[in-house]
Amino acid sequence: MSLDTRKFINQQIDEIRKKVGQGTALCATSGGVDSMVCAFLAHQALGQNLIALFIDDGLMRENETQTVARTLRKRGIKTIVVKAANDFFKALKGKKDPEDMRKAFRNQFYKTLGKAVKKYKADYLIQGTIAADVKETKGKIKTQHNVLAQIGVSPKKYGLSILEPLVMLYKPEVRKVGKALGLSKVIYERMPFPGPGLATRIVGEVTPHRVRIVRTATAIVEKELRKFKPFQAFSVLMNDRATGVKKGRRAFGNIIVIRSVESKDALTAQPTRVPFEILQKIQKQIVREIPEVTKVLYDLTPKPPSTIEYI
Ligand code: XMP
Repeated sequence: MSLDTRKFINQQIDEIRKKVGQGTALCATSGGVDSMVCAFLAHQALGQNLIALFIDDGLMRENETQTVARTLRKRGIKTIVVKAANDFFKALKGKKDPEDMRKAFRNQFYKTLGKAVKKYKADYLIQGTIAADVKETKGKIKTQHNVLAQIGVSPKKYGLSILEPLVMLYKPEVRKVGKALGLSKVIYERMPFPGPGLATRIVGEVTPHRVRIVRTATAIVEKELRKFKPFQAFSVLMNDRATGVKKGRRAFGNIIVIRSVESKDALTAQPTRVPFEILQKIQKQIVREIPEVTKVLYDLTPKPPSTIEYI
């Protein structure tokens, strides 16, 4: 059944207004399409009683903090940037197991959010959880950080009441709602970006240095593959090393994987058929711009059996 976006938007606006009343709501935005659509929707419902909260966790893509904050403010949305990178790096220190990393991220995220909720006296938290997040967490494929009830996080513990206006929608419907809300195409067509950010693209320990490597490589991949309009395209930093030659000397360096997939709803995905010349161009740029990298690979694996992200 196709979604009547206007009806959906009006229903959600009514619902949000009814629940929040004269109170204040926070909407945590990561810059990904779900949380941006959610913030714009909530803003239509609540106006100045909505605060968009951007937690700068140090795991964002290049220029993300400035771009997202600018986009929200341009639309008249009250926006607060919380600088919390050090807290997140501390929480992730020494963690290498994917689920341990997700748990550490999640706990820190809700600690930071909980503090903001108290500071800004918010009564509600509005989240951009979508149907696929719930399905995958239920299916024990992985614990998405934003499905609170299912991952055993009590919102009350953090002083939060939660609203999830997009929880019945899949990604293509979220984009339609974004379009109907008047968001720019750049936003509603944006690639999904996971809550735990670049941490999902680092195998092994997350450190500021390793984030810098994957962030630079991701910017290169996104720029070069944009014209193919992939569902998602990014870089991954592996934990293994491989021998190479850098500046005429043998080097035991880092391995970067290029990941680009086609998908409708992120539940299944196929690798993008990127022309070989483009892959070579990306490879050259990555090894040239990132001294630590000695190997660049392309991931051919569909989902299933693989997942899109790496942790
Ligand atoms: P996977 O890696 O499970 O990813 O194939 C499916 C889709 O979900 C995104 N993803 C997340 N989104 N919080 C999010 O908000 C998360 O913890 C998370 N983990 C994965 C991923 O980018 C892909 O679009």
